[in-house]
Amino acid sequence: MSGIIEEYQRKFALFFGAKHAFAFWKGRVALYALLRALDVGEGDEVILPGYTCVMDVNPIKYVGAKPVYVDIEPDTFNVNVSLLKEKITNKTKVIIAQHTYGYPCEMDTIMNIAQSIGISVIEDCCLALGSKYKGKVVGTFGRAGYFSFQWNKPYTTGLGGMVITNERDLAERIESLQAVEMCLPSGREVFMLWAQLIIYRFFVYPGTTAFAQNLFRYLTRKGVVMGSSSTSEYEPVKADDFFKGTSAIQARSGIRQLGKMEENISHRIKMAQLYDELLMSRGWRNREYNRDVLEPVMVRYPVRITEKQKALDQAAKAGIELGSWFECPLHPIETPLASYDYKVGMCPEAEKASIQVVNLPLHPRANEKTVERTVEFITGFTQAF
Ligand SMILES: Cc1ncc(COP(=O)(O)O)c(C=O)c1O
Repeated sequence: MSGIIEEYQRKFALFFGAKHAFAFWKGRVALYALLRALDVGEGDEVILPGYTCVMDVNPIKYVGAKPVYVDIEPDTFNVNVSLLKEKITNKTKVIIAQHTYGYPCEMDTIMNIAQSIGISVIEDCCLALGSKYKGKVVGTFGRAGYFSFQWNKPYTTGLGGMVITNERDLAERIESLQAVEMCLPSGREVFMLWAQLIIYRFFVYPGTTAFAQNLFRYLTRKGVVMGSSSTSEYEPVKADDFFKGTSAIQARSGIRQLGKMEENISHRIKMAQLYDELLMSRGWRNREYNRDVLEPVMVRYPVRITEKQKALDQAAKAGIELGSWFECPLHPIETPLASYDYKVGMCPEAEKASIQVVNLPLHPRANEKTVERTVEFITGFTQAF
């Protein structure tokens, strides 16, 4: 493994006070490595919220396990812990605590339930880099945490993923899987990622995001650029080269951004507060959660509205950066839900949120002006509950 990747892993682990960190090509690969290292396989069940990205479900299917969905709590969009126990069977091996949009899950309850019956908890921190629960950073409660550095995440290296853990045995198991089964990205993949990082750095700003996203999706379908997910990844069939390590370009970019992490975090907190204030001043209700316990560092600011599609269409024309995820319980809308053991009606709160929620930018390129413009735009619509 190249020195720069080792340095990235070391610095990432240090940021969390974790003993071990392992970088991968994508977040989903990090989860796959973790499930394999935890010996999750045929016949096992893995619990996760029914409000997620299908790329979080694929690794569960790849190892032969069954995803079991729990409905969400409507204010934080996280797993509703009062429904958790009834989903546990003697086949349950892992609970994935996904910290949605950056809101920390109710970790005390999740850990108590899991520990009382000997189930592993792993934390999906792909949307929550730096969020805290009772003063402790998320990713450090369960046996391991995993992260994504795809375009929409707290920081991006184009694509990227990471696992952190304090458990030596688990770390050794990941190391041996890497040594035996992991492949490296091809020269073409690394070159395309590099080109896309340059384009992102110079051309993607709040006013141009909708245009860039549409162009990017079109070029991905044509096979000209490498999207976050290939079309085949919307079916639960693992590609031969799925288990892929990270590249030096991703590691270099990651190290640069870790250096700016405190700034990134305080910017997100400040912009989220501004959204709270401006929306409230226009009579919108803010999300309700215990602010003494949960300290979210949010990836995007979610709001519920009555005419989601109309808002997305108008935003694209007006140069407003509006996110649509999650568009369905297993985002995106193209996901064949039945192939993933999801039946419509299973998670009513998640299904309702998918129809209502749009998310607003908080990233370092979104400044006070962006927030003001976005609030002006979104309050032209009706808040939904
Ligand atoms: C909550 C969540 N977990 C995991 C992933 C997978 O991350 P990646 O796209 O890096 O594989 C995503 C995807 O965007 C996600 O939103």
